[in-house]
Order: sequence, then C-alpha cells, then structure tokens
Amino acid sequence: MADLDFIHEYIRAPLDTTGHTLVLLHGTGGNERDLLPLGRFLAPDAALLGVRGKVLEGGMPRFFRRLAEGVFDEEDLLFRTDELADFLRSASATYGFERDALIAVGYSNGANIAASILLKHTDVFAGALLFRPMVPFEPEQSAAKRATPVLLSAGEADVIVPAQSTKRLGELLDARGANVEIQWHRGGHGLMEPELQLAKMWFEQKFSK
Ligand code: MLT
Repeated sequence: MADLDFIHEYIRAPLDTTGHTLVLLHGTGGNERDLLPLGRFLAPDAALLGVRGKVLEGGMPRFFRRLAEGVFDEEDLLFRTDELADFLRSASATYGFERDALIAVGYSNGANIAASILLKHTDVFAGALLFRPMVPFEPEQSAAKRATPVLLSAGEADVIVPAQSTKRLGELLDARGANVEIQWHRGGHGLMEPELQLAKMWFEQKFSK
C-alpha cells in the first residue's frame, strides 16, 4: 500500500454514482474536516477527500510556508506542491477513486496550493473550485495543457488577495489550457452563502453527467 503521509479523511460517494472525488483543501489554521460540509453541499453524490496541510505557522496548519502575508516561500511551495500531487496519486491507488475525476475545492491557502498543482502538474485535477485564490508562483517552463474547468471565486473587497493577483492567476491557468471563469462577489476574504450557491450551480453545469 502506498504511503499516505498526509493527515486526511476520505468519505466514499454515498451511492457510488458520479465518480467524482472532491479534494478539500482548507485555509490557514484549518484541518482536513473543515471543508467536508462544503464539499457535500457542492456535490451531494461525490466522494470527499479532506487533507490537512503539513506546515505549521504558530501551530496553524498550512499547505506551504510564507514569509509574510501574501509573500510565499517559493522553494517550500514548489516542494509541497510536488508532495501533495504525489499524495493524491497514491491516494487514488489506495482508495480506488478515478484520477480523471479529481476536483479541487480550496479556500485561501488551500486554493493557492491547488492553483500551484494546476500550474505544475496538469495531470492531477480534472477541475477546480478555488475560493479567494491568488498567484502562488509565476511559472517559467511550460507544462502540458489540459482543458480543465476552473472557477475562481473572488471578493471585490478582499484585503488579503489583490484583484490583480486573481486576474493574473486566471491568465496563467488559461495559458495551461484551462477553461477559467472568475466570479466576483461583493464581500471580502470570508465566504458568503450566495457565492456558494453559484459555485454549486457552476459545478453542476460542468460536471453533472
Ligand atoms: C492565508 O491566510 O491563507 C493567505 O491569505 C493565503 C496564503 O497564505 O496562502
């Protein structure tokens, strides 16, 4: 059995119907259980895989180190990106979920590591819903292209994520072949009920069979 060296929680699809598995990636200070209710709301029939980031910042789990708010330790980020991509490949072998149907759902720091995987390992995710994401790193080399549906859900009044960074992330993903939609909402960095309804509709449009 592959070594599944991230703390995680895997919940099988209730009826084994859709074949999708949502990979749930929390924000700073969260854990593998935080986004399970959101995942179930977005996709009632999907399997769920909640993962806990390995880096601790003052005791708070994250997916990679940062030097300051919005300033990332790129060496650690790239290492953690590869590490999480490897974990997801191993988890698919262990739990038997379809790699082709893996959808990222990330919030804040979790959205940023998901974006980093999308930029660096185009084979891992078949789609992504990223809440309050920013550019994790500016890629230099070109990766294989994949027409992955990606939703970027952004807050117009977000004081942590500059609007320009969300737009730039959209461009970078677009250059990777992704089919990107950015939805702007009135709020700030926190999630709001109406945007979750819109995200659910987006997910159903893109992934209902
Ligand atoms: C956070 O607090 O998680 C930041 O806004 C995003 C990050 O550091 O990745």
